[in-house]
Amino acid sequence: MGPDAVAIVSGARVINRSGDTSYRFRQDSDFWYLTGFDHPDATAILSTVPGRPAYSLFVQPRDRAAEVWTGYRPGMEGAQSNYGADEAADSAELLARLPGLVEGAARLYHAFGRRPDLDQKLIEIQDALRLQSRRGASPAAEWVDPRSIVHEMRLFKSSDEIELMRTAADISREAHSEAARHIAPGRYEYEIEATLDWVFRRRGAWGPAYSSIVAGGPNAAVLHYVTNDQPLRAGDLLLIDAGCEYQSYASDVTRTYPVGGHFEGPGRALYDVVLTAQQAAIAKAVPGTNLPALHDLTSRILVEGMVELGLLAGDVDELIQSEAHRRYYMHGTSHWLGLDVHDTGRYTDGEKPRTLEPGMVFTVEPGLYISEHDETAPEAFRGIGVRIEDDLVITPEGSENLTEAIPKRPADVEAWMSASP
Ligand code: GLY
Ligand code: MN
Ligand code: MN
Repeated sequence: MGPDAVAIVSGARVINRSGDTSYRFRQDSDFWYLTGFDHPDATAILSTVPGRPAYSLFVQPRDRAAEVWTGYRPGMEGAQSNYGADEAADSAELLARLPGLVEGAARLYHAFGRRPDLDQKLIEIQDALRLQSRRGASPAAEWVDPRSIVHEMRLFKSSDEIELMRTAADISREAHSEAARHIAPGRYEYEIEATLDWVFRRRGAWGPAYSSIVAGGPNAAVLHYVTNDQPLRAGDLLLIDAGCEYQSYASDVTRTYPVGGHFEGPGRALYDVVLTAQQAAIAKAVPGTNLPALHDLTSRILVEGMVELGLLAGDVDELIQSEAHRRYYMHGTSHWLGLDVHDTGRYTDGEKPRTLEPGMVFTVEPGLYISEHDETAPEAFRGIGVRIEDDLVITPEGSENLTEAIPKRPADVEAWMSASP
């Protein structure tokens, strides 16, 4: 933050769902990362202004009547004794206390646009300080978005964070295992989703890190299909993109299963191409390379495979150059993964792609999606979608595949599906 700086970081609030019901509370990832405080309506003030507390935490106070309804609150005392705050105060006092907290700050860290009441108050305070310049007051010379610092910190995972992500990956492995054994013609997509949720919660995960995609047959070609309400049909593939959130850390796993228990025909052919692309990219995920290089590699292998299968026609280089493959591969190969499923951190260094370094965690998730309505595609391939997705952490020597234990070679997937409980 530098000297004479104050940062204001707000936590999440409880969001109304409908009527008088709320969504289950989930702390803001930045706030969680900085404070570990998992209760709503809290704000942290971090200060390097001499003579001020370095860390003030504004929280909901203890309130026996309220706690009967919504549960335990650490209150101001807990904020200091359990969360390391130098001082704590009631969230209801934040706006009134803000002038004193930001006075003397030459640089203010605040993310505009999240809390209009805070935005407005800070602008008023800075204006008032300007008007008081004769008594020596001065507004902050710089306003900086704290996310410019925190999001880069979050990109590099510590060994403790990686250990949590290993656990998240293992819970997702067990969930996919449970799901795989329940896949059968006639079952509904939501039944499979329920087996995933059951394992997530059974193992203490918060739940899914994002809405689980359980997409049978042509639904797999709808990238964000989450209605999950159709019956499974023999001969179709079932794409399951589901990962749990454990201690706020996401896993993000896709496997594509044959509903009938055996890969066959055009589905198998597409599957083999996607698997080859995915394995090649994983082998190249080492320090010094970058995500666009992995995407170029998966794209090339997918194009070569599509030419062989007759989905694309022409010269491989020219097809890549003209992005012909985007018709069937319309998303990127990777994204950062961490407290958020699409995690924070810059993807570029100036003009250049970001070099991969130890501690970075990301997905490798090539896929091919042929819409059932695509009349230009060979008929046999219409209505098939395949994606295979793993979570990698870059290590000094190469990379660790956090989700490697989830089978993906066709014979292994088939064996897994037929395994008894
Ligand atoms: N499930 C979200 C993603 O794969 O990016
Ligand atoms: Mn995914
Ligand atoms: Mn993903």
